[in-house]
Amino acid sequence: MVFFTRHFTRVEDLPDLTGKVALVTGGNANLGLYTIQHLARKGATVYMGARDEDRAKEAIDLLQSEGLGPGNGEVRWLDLDLGDPLKTRKAGEEFLKLESRLDILDAKFESRDDFNRQFDEMWSPALARYALSKFCNVLFTNELQRQFDEESVPIIVMAINPGGIDTDRTRTLFRDSNILIRAIYYVVIRSFHKAPTAAKTIAFIAASPEVRSKDGIYRGAYLEPPGVLSKSSKVAQDLGLAKQLWVLTEEVVKTVEV
Ligand SMILES: NC(=O)c1ccc[n+]([C@@H]2O[C@H](COP(=O)([O-])OP(=O)(O)OC[C@H]3O[C@@H](n4cnc5c(N)ncnc54)[C@H](OP(=O)(O)O)[C@@H]3O)[C@@H](O)[C@H]2O)c1
Repeated sequence: MVFFTRHFTRVEDLPDLTGKVALVTGGNANLGLYTIQHLARKGATVYMGARDEDRAKEAIDLLQSEGLGPGNGEVRWLDLDLGDPLKTRKAGEEFLKLESRLDILDAKFESRDDFNRQFDEMWSPALARYALSKFCNVLFTNELQRQFDEESVPIIVMAINPGGIDTDRTRTLFRDSNILIRAIYYVVIRSFHKAPTAAKTIAFIAASPEVRSKDGIYRGAYLEPPGVLSKSSKVAQDLGLAKQLWVLTEEVVKTVEV
């Protein structure tokens, strides 16, 4: 049961990341924010992908005040709104002007209206919509890894379930659900990890030498806390479905001329 996993020690073994460049989307809060902290504390230059300059600067101030030692990496804001493909493309272009390398990309969002089914018929539409988006993340990961492998591109793509974490997202998700789900949430919330601990798993998969040295195992892998290899559901492993999602995504993106 991932909610109750207690041991997140693997991030302590991360190597020195000085000279490495990372981009963390959703970087100004919770899991993204603390993933940045773990990577920068090992010396990486980390771009915080965030859509609101004030919130990004506040988050960078917080990281500075909590300290980036011992590695003393750097955290920089990248103006990135993932809700708009045109702005996303602009952020990519901006990044390419600033950097000639990207060692770690921690991307966690998929969103376009066409994928936003409402699920009003379900007992918890908010949870159903969320589950669909996470399902798409796993399919997308599989197809992207397949394409990289086909073209012999040495990039490793992974999907991670960080477990149940007490963040703004979970609070909103459960607040918008029915009374039963809310009641369950208030009981289990005490066993949820806080973001700084949960982000250790993300930092581990982003920067551990183990991942590169065992890339046959980690390519396209699905992990659960604390960074353990697991298996996604059978339907999430369906390569035909992953391809369909890819093709549809490309079509949607073309309609907005990205
Ligand atoms: N918390 C959990 O228990 C849990 C469990 C499994 C998986 N996850 C996944 O882990 C990821 C992070 O979760 P979290 O709990 O840390 O979420 P969170 O507290 O809601 O933080 C989300 C972050 O994403 C940013 N964001 C939202 N929409 C954006 C957009 N259109 N463009 C750019 N940035 C945007 C937010 O920035 P703003 O301040 O600009 O809104 C914020 O920094 C999510 O993908 C979530 O599904 C979480």
